[in-house]
Amino acid sequence: VLNSKPRCLLVNMYLWITVLAGLALLPALLKTFFPYFFQDCVYMYRALGCGIRLNVYKRKTPFYSIVDCFLYAVKKHPRKAFIQFEGKTHSYEEVDKESNKVANALRSEAGLREGDTVALFLGNEPRFVWTWLGLAKLGCPAALLNFNIRSKSLLHCFSCCGASVLIAAAELRDAVEEILPALKEKGITVYLLSDECTTDGIQCIGQAIAKASDTPLSPSLRSNIHIRTTALYIYTSGTTGLPKAAYVTHERVWASSFIQGVCGVTSEDIFYINLPLYHSAGFLIGLVGSIERGNTVVLRRKFSASQFWDDCRKHNITVMQYIGETLRYLCNMPKKANDRDHKVRIAIGNGVRADVWKEFLNRFGRIHVGELYAATEGNVGFINYTDKVGVVGRINILSKVSDDMPFLALRKFDIEKEEPVRNAEGLCIPVGKDEVGLLVGKITKHTPFVGYAGNEQQTEKKRLGDVFVKGDLYFNSGDLLRIDHENFVYFHDRVGDTFRWKGENVATTEVADILMMVDCIEEANVYGVKVEGHEGRIGMAAVKLKEGREFDCVNTCSVLANYLPVYARPRFIRIQNSLEVTGTFKMKKVKLVEEGFDPTLIRDPLYFLDLPQKKYVPLSQEIHKSIVSQDIKL
Ligand SMILES: *[C@@H]1O[C@H](CO)[C@@H](O)[C@H](O)[C@H]1NC(C)=O
Ligand SMILES: *[C@@H]1O[C@H](CO)[C@@H](O)[C@H](O)[C@H]1NC(C)=O
Repeated sequence: VLNSKPRCLLVNMYLWITVLAGLALLPALLKTFFPYFFQDCVYMYRALGCGIRLNVYKRKTPFYSIVDCFLYAVKKHPRKAFIQFEGKTHSYEEVDKESNKVANALRSEAGLREGDTVALFLGNEPRFVWTWLGLAKLGCPAALLNFNIRSKSLLHCFSCCGASVLIAAAELRDAVEEILPALKEKGITVYLLSDECTTDGIQCIGQAIAKASDTPLSPSLRSNIHIRTTALYIYTSGTTGLPKAAYVTHERVWASSFIQGVCGVTSEDIFYINLPLYHSAGFLIGLVGSIERGNTVVLRRKFSASQFWDDCRKHNITVMQYIGETLRYLCNMPKKANDRDHKVRIAIGNGVRADVWKEFLNRFGRIHVGELYAATEGNVGFINYTDKVGVVGRINILSKVSDDMPFLALRKFDIEKEEPVRNAEGLCIPVGKDEVGLLVGKITKHTPFVGYAGNEQQTEKKRLGDVFVKGDLYFNSGDLLRIDHENFVYFHDRVGDTFRWKGENVATTEVADILMMVDCIEEANVYGVKVEGHEGRIGMAAVKLKEGREFDCVNTCSVLANYLPVYARPRFIRIQNSLEVTGTFKMKKVKLVEEGFDPTLIRDPLYFLDLPQKKYVPLSQEIHKSIVSQDIKL
């Protein structure tokens, strides 16, 4: 009896110690058993924060758009540098005034009103930014034309967005003149951003803008805009066919603008844009994201691997963007003693292979690589927010709120037919952990897929029905991904970048990576070509050799044999002086596939992999004939 009280105290104390020790140990325990718990939390906290903000903007009347966000930044720090370009600095206030001039001039000259679509045809320069802002202040959606395209393709892009006005940079006059007759026929107003121009049918707006008033535009001019209004048309750079104009709503503009924040970018950062502004990476994640953060943008006409780090040092750049191959280009530059002498702390982008990613970190120091997966028009996206190399993201509680009808999923895909595999009931089939499948995202009110302007057929192609249950509707990303047992998401391939040979799937990017390990090869573009009398496609590669090097027939063969199964090794090699790429450095394949491997039609040197001889041999007419007549077994 006497003992009871102290014992009780003791038990109490013991309990408390356990609890406290437990609490103290909790981080360690979590780290051991849920290694990504904290990173999950930080990410979800940031993502939820963005979601909440988006909801607030949605409900505001009038709608709070990115223009209002820009005006807020102007008020907050008018003198702060907004854009640095070729040695000139433009403050927030200056860009605001310039955009007012553009808006005032266009309002009086062209009579532009809210909702009129205007196509912009200019390169990366500050004027791009204030011309777009001017249009946005008038409530006019802008179609961002790729300034590299010409003639038929240019006309196609212009036509599908339904614009009535085209604004072009002075140096692109020739390209405009080429399609001028067609534009005239449609009654399109064409403005050139120059002071004088003598071409009939092209008006110069340079003077008018320079003389226009810089007084602010009344927000009432854009009062009908809401979250689902189209803000922009951005063209998806197809490696196949003509580009498609994706509708970019204000909701999408906001959502993409948050990516910088989710990656940890602040208002103090100096953001380096060297990707084209006509794409979503440069425009939405870069420019619009920087407006959202209120930071400084260092803008460059185009990416240059040799200038890259000098630029970073000169401007104290802290955040960089990458896409496709640019990280590899950087890694391919000769090593320098000052490779780590820079302030870059974050890199945001997509499409880097794990080995390049590792090499990049080894060489250029600790940089947070925010590798993300998203499509301009898509309704699903991931971001690598943990410290795992090579992943594009992670499935967390946020992405699987409801398990029986998940928002995103991977489904079995038939590479040969290029369509999802379906079961007896006609529904798509789930893939297992670690298995590659087609990524689909449920189309809902909150995750819409608006599609492409003037192209109902392509829009329809991206909609996939009967995925989980009859009658449901999903966005078909056209991308093959894989999710491992720890819920990490890996990008595998684009549909179409994989071909089938001898019943096996060959991922072209994987083969290209191996080819680039060969000493003499600088770049490789891998694809599959048809051979008469054979199912599927056989591997072929167009390669560019390193400066002054010859194609090494034996070594190439042995490197490939070391890393790739027979069916994946390119049987044909085509040597080219340069490989054709799209504006975002994606390899162009369609033409190469069509041209095949016929030495009578192709001027470039061609080689054939002679397996018994363990080397590549020049592809002669005789060999070609024997292949077609099936005397040589493939
Ligand atoms: C970069 O940072 C250094 C040191 O912090 C500073 O002295 C220099 O003026 C900065 N350069 C620019 C262009 O802002
Ligand atoms: C993504 O992974 C890399 C691993 O190299 C890591 O450094 C980085 O912090 C990760 N995430 C983000 C958002 O930066």
